[in-house]
Amino acid sequence: MKKAAILTGGGDSSGINDFIRSAVLLLASQDLEVVGVKQGYLGLLEEAYRPLTPDTVNSLVGTGGSMLLTSRTNPSKVAGGYERILDNLEKEKIEVLICVGGNDTLSVAGKLSELGVQVIGVPQTIDNDLPYTDYCIGFHTAVANIAASVRMIISSNISHQKEMVVEVMGRDSGFLALRSAIALGADFLAIPEFTLDMEKLCTMLLSNRAKGNKSSLIMVSEGVKVSGANLLSDEVDVFGNIKLGGIGYHIAEQVDKKIGAKPRTEVLGYIPRGGMADPYDSFLSVLFARGVAENIKSNTFGVMVGIDAQTTKNVALSMAVSSIRVVQEKEYRNFLPC
Ligand code: F6P
Repeated sequence: MKKAAILTGGGDSSGINDFIRSAVLLLASQDLEVVGVKQGYLGLLEEAYRPLTPDTVNSLVGTGGSMLLTSRTNPSKVAGGYERILDNLEKEKIEVLICVGGNDTLSVAGKLSELGVQVIGVPQTIDNDLPYTDYCIGFHTAVANIAASVRMIISSNISHQKEMVVEVMGRDSGFLALRSAIALGADFLAIPEFTLDMEKLCTMLLSNRAKGNKSSLIMVSEGVKVSGANLLSDEVDVFGNIKLGGIGYHIAEQVDKKIGAKPRTEVLGYIPRGGMADPYDSFLSVLFARGVAENIKSNTFGVMVGIDAQTTKNVALSMAVSSIRVVQEKEYRNFLPC
């Protein structure tokens, strides 16, 4: 019986457990033995595994976090790290390694693939910043959590006529802030891709104030560049990522200095990462699990499973009403364990 292992690395998010569940149900139906690696690559270095069977994963649907636990472990920072992983994979007779995570986790997966391991990557990051896939597991849940959290705070801001800066994660990419800003009808958006124009922000706030709106909402990503802002931390993780968080406070202070009245600042931190998975993340997890299962069947390794759907198209109205769209057999099979 072929043996596959699943590991989850880096920052967690809701939807990971759905993926584990879907993958185990599907792979078990393909007669594969599945083992979970605890705490990402750390578990591969330390031989920390747990068996995964349909029974052990069935109740995971929709739950937050990673039932396999996670860590930011960089094998290249551990003496003999990659060699140890190769030895341990062989010792455990793991033939296929499924790595779930973001840029760091998948870059290690890529290295393992170069070293001959049969690896399949699964995109998972609330930042949604992996290329060649429209979505990563965790992103939709994070956006939904941000929207729900801000809706809870915003009523107080409106009552107190206070402007508000909301800072969310997003190291290099602003998808989280962008999608949340759209969902919330925010007044201003500042993301890492574009340096924050403080003049523009202040002009917008003054114009809103003049129109009687004194509770503007400013959405920012933690990684936004602001001229003159100091990094709040010099903490760097094993992949060289600087610990971010707190730029929102700096922006609020700048606003106060330039035009008076300091906006309230809320740094949402880890809130977006947790809670029940958004239904779309559960769905995405099934699609990715199917992709993984098909790749194993066809011996396709050294790849990441992605999704590509975000386009619009024009359809003649006559065509749009010419039939009723129904669930196709392939889609029906997304209800596991079909
Ligand atoms: O990698 C995704 C991410 O959400 C980044 O946006 C953020 O900077 C980082 O995780 C923080 O995670 P941790 O504090 O767990 O290292």
